[in-house]
Amino acid sequence: MTAVDLGVPRLRRPGPAGAAAGLPGDRPATPDLVDRHGRTARDLRVSLTDRCNLRCHYCMPPEGLPWLDRADVLTDDEVVRLVRLAVRDLGVHEVRFTGGEPLLRKGLEDIVAATTRLRTPAGDPVRASLTTNGIGLARRAAALAGAGLTRVNVSLDTLHPDRFAAITRRDRHTDVLAGLEAAAAAGLAPVKVNAVLLRGTNDDEATDLLRWALAAGYRLRFIEQMPLDPHGSWQRSQMVTADEILAALHREFHLRPRPGTARGAAPAETWDVVAGDGTVLGDVGVIASVTRPFCGDCDRTRLTADGQVRTCLFSTSETDLRDALRSGADDAALADRWRTAMWGKLPGHDIDDPGFLHPTRPMSAIGG
Ligand code: 5AD
Ligand code: SF4
Repeated sequence: MTAVDLGVPRLRRPGPAGAAAGLPGDRPATPDLVDRHGRTARDLRVSLTDRCNLRCHYCMPPEGLPWLDRADVLTDDEVVRLVRLAVRDLGVHEVRFTGGEPLLRKGLEDIVAATTRLRTPAGDPVRASLTTNGIGLARRAAALAGAGLTRVNVSLDTLHPDRFAAITRRDRHTDVLAGLEAAAAAGLAPVKVNAVLLRGTNDDEATDLLRWALAAGYRLRFIEQMPLDPHGSWQRSQMVTADEILAALHREFHLRPRPGTARGAAPAETWDVVAGDGTVLGDVGVIASVTRPFCGDCDRTRLTADGQVRTCLFSTSETDLRDALRSGADDAALADRWRTAMWGKLPGHDIDDPGFLHPTRPMSAIGG
């Protein structure tokens, strides 16, 4: 996923917490990744490449983007070193690999295997998952499951091959469906499907997508479109909102809020889909990043493909780990940099605020 560099980086307006920030000297002496707003990061998102083989309109221009220099991208060993550090020293429990398109990374299976061999200080295994567009997954799902991958999120916005080609500018619908089937067959369960509805393109598909996902046993998640598009042309009024999606689903399905599952740090609000006789047919989620932001419960920290820590998808600043690592910093120094970055995490993304500033990197270079 992506948005383009939007010119001169601007600083986000400091909120009250930002203004009171002071120096990292006020950071508590805990090893975990904590911030000033009471949050602790347990979920690490690692972007393995900024490249992609699709060109989704809401993410990339047709010609692609100015890709990162290969020399700037972390090597497999460097990625594994930083993931190990996060798990061993910083309290991370869950690692999600993203891109760009992470299946374009040759060493993916090895990176996953090295990750799933790690244990938290309490001796627990690390959950590793993948967010992918599904192209090429048919060939690699079994090897990824063998490497210990727990599950996958596959992006699919439409059931119509022609619409898929229009949205992604590539005629690869069949490959994605094959990837989904292979993931389920390999036991990468539950297979989740992420869908973005776009006004005038696929906004009539909410119920069709859910019917299809229930029949196939996939867990569908609708994501509100975020302002990460390459042209900076995102308009809130054009976005298909969570309320609209739910209204459409309610017309055909009986949805019941998941009993006992407060949303917590999970961005999706989840409903059980219930048949007339009370049987639960499956579930559906809506990730309302814009209209119902969940920043207060965020437990994420992000590492870009070129080794920069970002505390948020929408950060306008980053903390370098790659140059530090390449110039000989030891694990303790790297861990400390990461903790300081987390301590400065802003309370929210302010998308709905008129002062909102776009992130200065494309989403494909940040990791979704
Ligand atoms: N808004 C919302 N979701 C997006 N994705 C990519 N760009 C955007 C955007 N601007 C989605 C992809 C994928 C997920 C990781 O993020 O479709 O499903
Ligand atoms: Fe590729 Fe995902 Fe961006 Fe589409 S949204 S172009 S699949 S990185």
